[in-house]
Amino acid sequence: MKKIALLTSGGDAPGMNAAVRAIVKTSLHYGVVTLGIRDGFEGLIHGWGKPLGYGDVDNIIHLGGTILGSARSKDFRTKEGRQKAIDFLLKEKVEGLVVIGGDGSFAGARALRAESGIAIIGLPGTIDNDLYGTECSIGYDTALNTVVSAIDKIRDTASSHKRIFFVEAMGRHSGFIALNSAIASGAESVLIPESITHIPTLVDQIKTQNKGRRSSIIVVAEGDDAGGAMDIMRKVSPYLEGYDLRTTILGHIQRGGSPSYLDRAIATRSGIRAVELLLNGESNLMVGVKSDELVTVSIDDAIDKSALPNLDKEAILKKLLTGSSL
Ligand code: F6P
Repeated sequence: MKKIALLTSGGDAPGMNAAVRAIVKTSLHYGVVTLGIRDGFEGLIHGWGKPLGYGDVDNIIHLGGTILGSARSKDFRTKEGRQKAIDFLLKEKVEGLVVIGGDGSFAGARALRAESGIAIIGLPGTIDNDLYGTECSIGYDTALNTVVSAIDKIRDTASSHKRIFFVEAMGRHSGFIALNSAIASGAESVLIPESITHIPTLVDQIKTQNKGRRSSIIVVAEGDDAGGAMDIMRKVSPYLEGYDLRTTILGHIQRGGSPSYLDRAIATRSGIRAVELLLNGESNLMVGVKSDELVTVSIDDAIDKSALPNLDKEAILKKLLTGSSL
């Protein structure tokens, strides 16, 4: 294999640049050219690629975002769009493609593989951590730390004013960020799409937890079955008269910032592995991490099987110590 292409796709995630750096440097080491594709699959369709050298990837390990740019390409979902991308890859004599992204990006990569025969390797790059086959996707740890530090700050003002805050964390279909940030920030309740939200129970928990206290934090995953933080606050407020309620939606600050140690390390290790897998003739695999070891799973499993947070975690820390209703 003499030439590979590399793109970042879907929602950006801290650590994507560390992976790009590792892939380019490993490829250069093996005498392989890496064609960096601008703006994900959109760039493949339009032929926005350039060979990357050391100068392009030096001093990017600490940068958030992605130097390659990212997009959610509508055109790539069509056969015609994908054919343009395949024509470009064949013209450029690209034999392997590394896609850093989430499940939508992998679905695109899988279709491209089926229609072109070009080898693909996926690296899980999403703050949501919602991919089967890895314990920690690239960007998840940094996002978690961002959320925990934001909640710490909200706690300061909440307890000054004796307020109850509903804090919305990202996670369109998954509660990894909400659950684990709630645990680490000492939140009083957490609502995630993987478990059913029952408003009367939540009201009871809030009343129990708030007794004699100056603040309560309820972390809400944006994809919770009962709605986002605003919806939840609206639903509970008739039962919480006399309490001072507020909502904070953390939003895209969760996607930015310099990657943590863990994200840099995972991204770098899996970037090296991605290139070596392609050179060994492998394809259709995602590189994940389990108990600090790199593992591979099929792209099909990564997309089709569900990644579930650990819903016991000591019975969600005894219902977050303990508004109860365990
Ligand atoms: O997939 C990552 C994610 O950050 C989700 O948590 C969130 O729902 C979504 O992307 C937001 O996407 P966009 O930036 O396109 O609005």
